[in-house]
Amino acid sequence: MQLTIAITGASGAILGREALRALEADERVAKVHFVASENSLRVIAEELGISGRANLLEKLLGAHPAKTIQLSDADIGAPIASGSHPSSGMVILPCSMGTLAAIALGLANSLIARAADVTLKERRPLILCVRETPFNRIHLRNMTLAAEAGATIFPVIPAFYNHPVDTTEMARQFVCRVLAHVGLPQPGACVWKPEE
Ligand SMILES: Cc1cc2nc3c(=O)[nH]c(=O)nc-3n(C[C@H](O)[C@H](O)[C@H](O)COP(=O)(O)O)c2cc1C
Repeated sequence: MQLTIAITGASGAILGREALRALEADERVAKVHFVASENSLRVIAEELGISGRANLLEKLLGAHPAKTIQLSDADIGAPIASGSHPSSGMVILPCSMGTLAAIALGLANSLIARAADVTLKERRPLILCVRETPFNRIHLRNMTLAAEAGATIFPVIPAFYNHPVDTTEMARQFVCRVLAHVGLPQPGACVWKPEE
């Protein structure tokens, strides 16, 4: 399995970090392509205290990457910009309203938007973990457009019934749900078991 993970400038950088860590540890995954939008860097600095693009991947993983490759969002000639590149799908986590709009309108004006466009045209899974509150009508329309084109709108709405003890646990459980959705059920996933 080869997956693409993108982090954009919406709140929730911790979710992208936990997704990258889970995929690095997952033996079913051979390669991960990672793209961070320019604006995500500001949010990553704000929320995770990691500044700049230098060694970003190592800092997010907390280790040297074994199978994750970072690509520049400006590199529209990267492998994932082409449908001929074998990919099992793409997850944008978190997905800003700006990136959602670019995808919904087919702008393909950055590597993230182009790779998402390619994922849709190749009929591969595209998971958009959108985050904003409240939504305006433009956001709602763009989500509908993207969903009609084949994307899964997977809003950053964490569960509370599993009693997460901190934001990392909350992020991990959210990531478990996302990865299960692309065929990668995770060992530590909380599964709802109502009392008999
Ligand atoms: C601290 C911070 C938090 C933000 N949170 C959100 C958010 O939750 N959702 C969103 O759509 N935009 C959010 N933004 C604004 C986006 O970063 C901005 O619209 C940016 O242009 C998105 O660019 P990108 O999609 O290329 O990453 C936030 C910005 C900052 C600085």
